[in-house]
Amino acid sequence: MVTGMQLDPDDERILAGEQGETRQKMLELLVALGKVFGAERLVPIKSAQVSGASYKTIGKYGLDWLASLDAKAVVPAVLNPIGMPRTRWQEMGIEPDFAEKQQAVVAAYERLGVRLDCTCTPYYLYETRYGDHLAWSESSAVSYANSVLGARTNREGGPSALAAAIIGKTPCYGLHLEKNRVPQMVIDVHADTSRWGVADYGALGYHAGKLVGNRIPYFRGIRPGPDQLKAIGAAMAATGAVALYHVEGVTPESQKNRYDLSDIEAIAVERTEISRLFSQIPVDAVAVGCPHCSPAELGEIARLLTGKVVTKPLYIFAAQGVIDRNTKIVDSIEKSGARVFADTCMVVSPVMEQYASIMVNSGKALAYVPNMCGGQARIGTIEDCVNVATE
Ligand code: F3S
Repeated sequence: MVTGMQLDPDDERILAGEQGETRQKMLELLVALGKVFGAERLVPIKSAQVSGASYKTIGKYGLDWLASLDAKAVVPAVLNPIGMPRTRWQEMGIEPDFAEKQQAVVAAYERLGVRLDCTCTPYYLYETRYGDHLAWSESSAVSYANSVLGARTNREGGPSALAAAIIGKTPCYGLHLEKNRVPQMVIDVHADTSRWGVADYGALGYHAGKLVGNRIPYFRGIRPGPDQLKAIGAAMAATGAVALYHVEGVTPESQKNRYDLSDIEAIAVERTEISRLFSQIPVDAVAVGCPHCSPAELGEIARLLTGKVVTKPLYIFAAQGVIDRNTKIVDSIEKSGARVFADTCMVVSPVMEQYASIMVNSGKALAYVPNMCGGQARIGTIEDCVNVATE
């Protein structure tokens, strides 16, 4: 088969159908994608992260397609959050009919050799290093991998991430190439950020994403830590289409490279543009963990909840592997009546649709809750979220 891409003999055999129809179709998909984007070759990947896992988003047609496939992932592959916690779905109030369909989706992925860690933070579970090539699909995970870890991934769709998992390679274009990772605009933050937490950085990302679109921004004037970087990137990927950003002196590529910033657009962001996003609308429920909480975030929530009892539903989301490694902290959180759920989140679970207004500490959730859950969203600091849930 003439593809226009350099393929090794094993790939040619796959394309000839010698390793089964599913592997053939998956490689055809990757080659077609590579041709569209001008890739010259495929690159081996370390891991895949596959979106299209919630029955709420893929529905019957997605499930039927998955069920028709017959092959196994050849690299570690994890799932994006699904529509419910795999083990505690009844406690979350999920309808049995939805649970049955969601379980069928999970079973289909399990048959394909995809691990059932349903999370947008696979980097807490599997080591991901500088320079690793990946095929990840959830936008916040893609942003964190590229920007904070210095790994290389385009934002894959669910089918292309699954195809990459099954073939173990992805087309080498876009952010896999060094030349496409340089800053395309500068954002100068004019604010005292010394006391900023995750919500402030999430709000900055929410605002910046609208300015940046799909360019690669280079931030100056901020010193975010890992959870705060996670918050900026997630929000910028939601209000914009940012898959990579740099922060001067903080992110790995900004420290390794000397970028010439003299000829690119520079925009200033003022504190007032961020603070006006913090509204005071009344809320029916509070949801934290978008992206899924880190161990440090769980620890902070436990500290803030000590001696308190929730008076409004307080949902906290984290990867099962993170929960399992922090059971004392999770028990302490749940003593307050709050619930820590794995595998799902405030956006992909249908349960959140019952609330008219949800408080979050995430710029990404601020952007997505109104569209995906139908309610209003209010952003606040984690301290404010706990206070509102326990007042
Ligand atoms: Fe993760 Fe769901 Fe937010 S997938 S980034 S918690 S919308």
